[in-house]
Amino acid sequence: MIFRDFALNLMETVTCRRSLHLCIVVFMFLMTLGTGSTCEAPSTLQCFRRSSVEVIYVCEWTMNTTESDVSYDLYIEYEAQGILSALLGPVRTEIVKDCRRVKETTCSMHEDALITKRPVEIWVAAHVGNSSCTSPRRSVELQQKVKHDVPKDISMSWLKNNLSLSWTAVEEYPALAEVRFRRLEHPTDSWETRMTNTTHEPSKWSVIVVNLLKFTPYQVQIRQRSSHVRNPLWSDWSPVVTVPAELEQKPEVSMTTRLLNGTRKVTLTWKPMPHAAAVTGVMYKVMDTQSSQRCPCVVKRPDIKSSEYQTYVSYSAVNISVMAMNAAGSSPPAIIQVPAQPAADLKICNETLMNKKIKKKTCREFYELRDGDSRPENIITVTADKRRNMKDIQEFVCYLYFEHRCKRGKPHTIEMCLFYKKQGAPRIKPQNFTHSSETDNSVNLSWKAIPPADQRGFLTHYSLCSVKISSPEVRKECLNISASVINYRLENLTPGAQYNISLAGVTPGGEGPNAQTTVNTLPEKPVNVLWSLSLLFVFFFISTTCTCILKRIKNKIFPPVPTPVIPNFTPYQAESQEMLERKEEVHELTLLQLHPEVKSVHEDEEESTILRRDWDDDADKDVESERGDSSLSGGTSDECLGPGSTDQVLRRSKEGEATDLEQLDNEIAMLIYRNGLVFDVKTESP
Ligand SMILES: *[C@@H]1O[C@H](CO)[C@@H](O)[C@H](O)[C@H]1NC(C)=O
Ligand SMILES: *[C@@H]1O[C@H](CO)[C@@H](O)[C@H](O)[C@H]1NC(C)=O
Ligand SMILES: *[C@@H]1O[C@H](CO)[C@@H](O)[C@H](O)[C@H]1NC(C)=O
Ligand SMILES: *[C@@H]1O[C@H](CO)[C@@H](O)[C@H](O)[C@H]1NC(C)=O
Ligand SMILES: *[C@@H]1O[C@H](CO)[C@@H](O)[C@H](O)[C@H]1NC(C)=O
Ligand SMILES: *[C@@H]1O[C@H](CO)[C@@H](O)[C@H](O)[C@H]1NC(C)=O
Ligand SMILES: *[C@@H]1O[C@H](CO)[C@@H](O)[C@H](O)[C@H]1NC(C)=O
Ligand SMILES: *[C@@H]1O[C@H](CO)[C@@H](O)[C@H](O)[C@H]1NC(C)=O
Repeated sequence: MIFRDFALNLMETVTCRRSLHLCIVVFMFLMTLGTGSTCEAPSTLQCFRRSSVEVIYVCEWTMNTTESDVSYDLYIEYEAQGILSALLGPVRTEIVKDCRRVKETTCSMHEDALITKRPVEIWVAAHVGNSSCTSPRRSVELQQKVKHDVPKDISMSWLKNNLSLSWTAVEEYPALAEVRFRRLEHPTDSWETRMTNTTHEPSKWSVIVVNLLKFTPYQVQIRQRSSHVRNPLWSDWSPVVTVPAELEQKPEVSMTTRLLNGTRKVTLTWKPMPHAAAVTGVMYKVMDTQSSQRCPCVVKRPDIKSSEYQTYVSYSAVNISVMAMNAAGSSPPAIIQVPAQPAADLKICNETLMNKKIKKKTCREFYELRDGDSRPENIITVTADKRRNMKDIQEFVCYLYFEHRCKRGKPHTIEMCLFYKKQGAPRIKPQNFTHSSETDNSVNLSWKAIPPADQRGFLTHYSLCSVKISSPEVRKECLNISASVINYRLENLTPGAQYNISLAGVTPGGEGPNAQTTVNTLPEKPVNVLWSLSLLFVFFFISTTCTCILKRIKNKIFPPVPTPVIPNFTPYQAESQEMLERKEEVHELTLLQLHPEVKSVHEDEEESTILRRDWDDDADKDVESERGDSSLSGGTSDECLGPGSTDQVLRRSKEGEATDLEQLDNEIAMLIYRNGLVFDVKTESP
């Protein structure tokens, strides 16, 4: 036992400078002498403090024993100085006061009980039963021994492909840090290590591990060492920390809203985050602009794990943001804009609105309306504790007013209307005021509505005034027309007169500037001219109609024109004859023997036309091709021939075929029956 202690002490003090081999031989020899002892010496004795400003020192050692009843004494040996050395001798050995008979393998003491600024020798003696054994002696300058704790509260974030790690600083000086890491998906990889000086932020030490892959999760361990003392010790390695991949994408959120009485239920759902970013779990933070303004409810929203969320919003516009968070940071927020609930017809707010007291749990919002659109940067929110905001509401500006109340934790919109703090007359005149389609007593007027921002009040109507300039006494006539129209037909004007017409928008605040235009009505048209024109037209119409009817009837009863070229003319004749016999009703009979020489041009024309009609009818069936005159058919079955067609017929009658007809003419006897308006013509067989 004694031998063994001796050997260990020897090992410590004789620093084996000469030869490692000799040293080991001596050690082994001495060790054999000590075997059989019941006590194994404590080892790995270390004494240090946790930081360079610490006044408490800690000594730690290890002891391989199964005994339960073990106690330790910590010895310190130092050179006495000054009077003490004269009194007590140059070397002093004592048991450290707070480390006598301790049961644990660690012991801490105040620096007052120690010599810290000079090298001292320390060792520990273990007592098991009646035997005791002593650890090797160590020579240390305690002040220079600093061993930090393991890094605590490690946080991490990605800066592109560099990983920033930070943890609680132990002291104000920077330290040296060693980081070891490997990819999470490859746990068999060996650790890669990087040594870096920490940068010091207030109460934080941080290092940046460069050139990693931000889409890969890593396992990381850190240890740290003071760089402020001469003989620092490495801290222990921190527990393994998993660094998830960066959350680069914002959540893909889809939204449904359901309208409930005065409130809206919004359901948000989103896709889970990529696995690499979610290895240590993902939380989501949901925020909305209504509750962050406390209008009207104050909602505390804890972060959630699930990818669905339900919330209630009032009728006014709200932005909801969803942000995913993991240990290495947060994603960009997905912002969902829930537009204001459109109101079918907005009422005009009650005048007394401004004087109403704002209750608790109620808030008001004034959306400034410009160009008919709400500009959200000009929302004025008034809550019970922000009443002074009422001062920001301007006169002559239209606001969309909301009143919300918090009912059972849900925001409800209880009123929605249009509001003016004070109304004024419109600032501008109706734009593009023009007139068109003037007649002798009316004119069309059109204009562009006054933009909402320039109305400065609720437009009640337009005032349209006309002044007849040309009349001797100037009389102004005004009328009110609806604020919603942008054109108007002004009637009952005097023909051939000049009018100054003006138009102005009117609000309860007054009448705005007016737009003007000058209109000249057309001169009065004499009535007889109109009448004669219409009579002329009627006459023309009747005559055309009569001619048509006449021709049609003629065709029906006109007897066949025998022609050698048309073989199937006879059946038609018979048919006509039959028809004729049925219809004929003779009132008065005149037999005219036509002579070619006395035939008038008109008759000639008429007959030709009649003939032509027959030709046409047959030609339409089968003759046309034989005659080889396609123009005859004319492609039309219309009985009313235009003047062009008559010309054609006339021309044809003078050509070759006309000779045949002339021969016939001689034998034609025309029977003209007067039967009302209709003249019927019949040929007589020779
Ligand atoms: C502790 O002691 C046991 C037996 O006494 C031995 O087998 C073991 O190796 C020792 N461990 C160390 C770390 O010395
Ligand atoms: C320890 O010593 C005491 C007296 O000195 C003796 O009575 C006792 O038996 C011893 N125990 C062992 C385990 O040797
Ligand atoms: C990442 O580290 C590289 C190498 O040191 C450096 O050039 C780069 O600027 C760093 N990027 C960021 C975002 O810190
Ligand atoms: C840390 O800083 C010290 C002193 O500034 C310097 O000597 C040392 O090389 C640095 N160590 C590393 C790993 O950068
Ligand atoms: C909505 O409110 C009205 C009046 O406050 C009430 O009569 C009605 O039952 C409510 N409807 C729902 C679905 O809550
Ligand atoms: C919502 O977000 C949009 C775009 O960022 C912004 O213009 C608007 O003012 C926000 N609306 C509210 C009510 O905060
Ligand atoms: C037009 O409206 C104003 C205000 O309502 C009224 O005083 C005026 O009599 C109206 N004029 C006509 C012509 O109706
Ligand atoms: C008619 O309008 C013209 C110009 O717009 C103006 O000079 C004139 O004085 C007006 N006449 C009357 C009677 O208002």
